[in-house]
Amino acid sequence: MNYNVRDEVKGMAKYVAGKPIAEVKRELGIDKVVKLASNENPLGCSKKVKEVIMELLGEVNMYPDATSYEFKECLSTKLNITRDMIFCGAGSDSLINVLCTVVLDKGDESLMPEITFPRYESNTLLMGATPVKIPLKNNYLDLEAMVDAITDKTKIIWFCNPNNPTGSMFTAKEFNNIIDKIPREVLIVMDEAYGEYVTSDEYPDSLELLKKYRNIIILRTFSKAYGLASLRFGYGIAREELVDYLNRVINAFDTNLFAQKSAVEALKDEEFLAQVKAFNEEERDYLTSQFEKMKLEYVPSQANFLMVNVRGDDKSIHEYLLQRGYIIRPGFLLDMPGWLRVSIGTKEENREFCKLLGEAIEERDSK
Ligand SMILES: Cc1ncc(COP(=O)(O)O)c(C=O)c1O
Repeated sequence: MNYNVRDEVKGMAKYVAGKPIAEVKRELGIDKVVKLASNENPLGCSKKVKEVIMELLGEVNMYPDATSYEFKECLSTKLNITRDMIFCGAGSDSLINVLCTVVLDKGDESLMPEITFPRYESNTLLMGATPVKIPLKNNYLDLEAMVDAITDKTKIIWFCNPNNPTGSMFTAKEFNNIIDKIPREVLIVMDEAYGEYVTSDEYPDSLELLKKYRNIIILRTFSKAYGLASLRFGYGIAREELVDYLNRVINAFDTNLFAQKSAVEALKDEEFLAQVKAFNEEERDYLTSQFEKMKLEYVPSQANFLMVNVRGDDKSIHEYLLQRGYIIRPGFLLDMPGWLRVSIGTKEENREFCKLLGEAIEERDSK
């Protein structure tokens, strides 16, 4: 029985998410499991978000506001843009899917770095379009090579900044050097899922660019720095005309009541966000200093995770850590064999991780 399944779906690979804590506990029969595999926020979320969630429990029988009015009102005031420039979805994952549905046809190309967030590729394939993947240059996006690969079939060009899984960032200056080479008909996606963590003052100001370039779409999420991954809330910012098309396709109730109200509270709690950013920077520095001590190469990161070179087989390192309750993302799953990606955890978790990493490498190399 083939259920008339479309060829594009048959050919799709399943997304391999970071292993959930409960699954590892079940499989290994251990109580303490630490997940440093999905770039979640070790500090949790704002207290104000928790309070608002409790207040909403009596309203679960009602559909949420399909327009996310309150969130859009809050964000548009904060960023000095119009409400109609904002679209919301169940995580930026959902927005990526909608964007591909709106823009891509069979035969079209969508252009992306070879190693980046895998949903750009899977959603391109789902639409019957062709992903064109440009190798990284020394673990950074090769912006020049990306624009050189544009053809008259290119409909979308994806820029993940900082890039997942490398954490590397391209600068405003680097981007300004290439942006005018991108035809106005090609959609430029600026995926800023980790933008809140950036401490460099050379980060491109994509909102400013959007004023000049009508083909830019900025994607952001509450899953990372705001600590609301489970609630599923992401937003995009683009010109009103494009947002109008996206709103025609997205599920009417893609974002739920808890997500919408939590996002509003999270946006208001600037103090929590500042704490998250400062903590992340401090711990990112700690981890890199440890990697240096261990003489391990790493990619300089502007995000809440680090890519580190474990000088050889990463599967056995992953396994060693897993057996001791530490879930990380091995490089072989990210097309970077020999590396691993670790999300920044609590202070205690980061210290324990470094200790285990040293032991794991020593054990592997002693065999
Ligand atoms: C670069 C990037 N974009 C988008 C997403 C999707 O995030 P969410 O759907 O939780 O908003 C992720 C998640 O890991 C990501 O790394």
